[in-house]
Amino acid sequence: AEEIKELQKEVRRLAQEKNAIILAHYYQRPEVQDIADFVGDSLELSRKAANTDADIIVFCGVRFMCETAKILSPQKKVLHPNPESGCPMADMVTAEQVRKLREEHPDAEFVAYINTTADVKAEVDICVTSANAPKIIKKLEAKKIVFLPDQALGQWVAKQVPEKEFIIWKGFCPPHFEFTAREVMKLKEKYPDAKVAVHPECHPKVIELADFVGSTSQIIKYATSVDAKRVIVITEVGLKYTLMKKNPNKEYIFPESMNYCGTVYCCTMKGITLPKVYETIKNEINEVELPEDIIERARRPIERMLELS
Ligand code: 13P
Ligand code: SF4
Repeated sequence: AEEIKELQKEVRRLAQEKNAIILAHYYQRPEVQDIADFVGDSLELSRKAANTDADIIVFCGVRFMCETAKILSPQKKVLHPNPESGCPMADMVTAEQVRKLREEHPDAEFVAYINTTADVKAEVDICVTSANAPKIIKKLEAKKIVFLPDQALGQWVAKQVPEKEFIIWKGFCPPHFEFTAREVMKLKEKYPDAKVAVHPECHPKVIELADFVGSTSQIIKYATSVDAKRVIVITEVGLKYTLMKKNPNKEYIFPESMNYCGTVYCCTMKGITLPKVYETIKNEINEVELPEDIIERARRPIERMLELS
């Protein structure tokens, strides 16, 4: 514990000295969240990355988040404490596949979840996050929407925008999508008074059982303020740390007490460790680099999202 504190102090000192901002997603380890200047959901983190005065952005999250920061602040040094930490869902669709789909659906507007590679973003019309997807897609002019890569989020949005036709890619988030409705039913039986909050990357059958569906930040708002003593939360277990900090008077039930398969746990998010953050900021290593033309082309859909949300 002492060692962790020392390392955290050192990271904070280096951040000050180098005029670096440390951003972290809610799924990060508690000891990493604690050294961040800002912890947030994908939308809030991209806003921060676009508007910071820092010279260096240390991004504690997965690769697509670092790439988004680089695209929005190309003149800054963006560092990724673990270059191996990708998002398996983001890798389920390629730019080549999107180009082919374009030919098949020339009349559609192409919407990419922010959980995509920079190459894919460069091929689409607009990005969305789980916090703004329904709102933004309702505002689009096209009647036909191609949504990628998350089938769960896509189906959830399609239900809320019945006036549009959706073509949805078959990608998914392994930790969220594989969590079963059966497990949620068991938790509901055990805690019949509890409300259920679910991330829209979950399977449609799990979403059906929810009292509330939203992004990590939206779940935090709901779970900490809803009129219920207990809330069952179906998203990555990292969120529990913030919930406990924001409102310790409630009980947050995460499916973590079961076996490993019954847990919503993102290995790549957890691939960012405090020692890695320390090495990265100290030596200014693990810099995120993208080709100029990709930065140029991928910026438009992200900025369009920020304007519309
Ligand atoms: P949000 O924090 O935007 O809800 O994203 C969840 C997620 O899976 C990020 O990888
Ligand atoms: Fe990707 Fe899912 Fe992990 Fe988020 S939780 S980074 S969507 S695999």
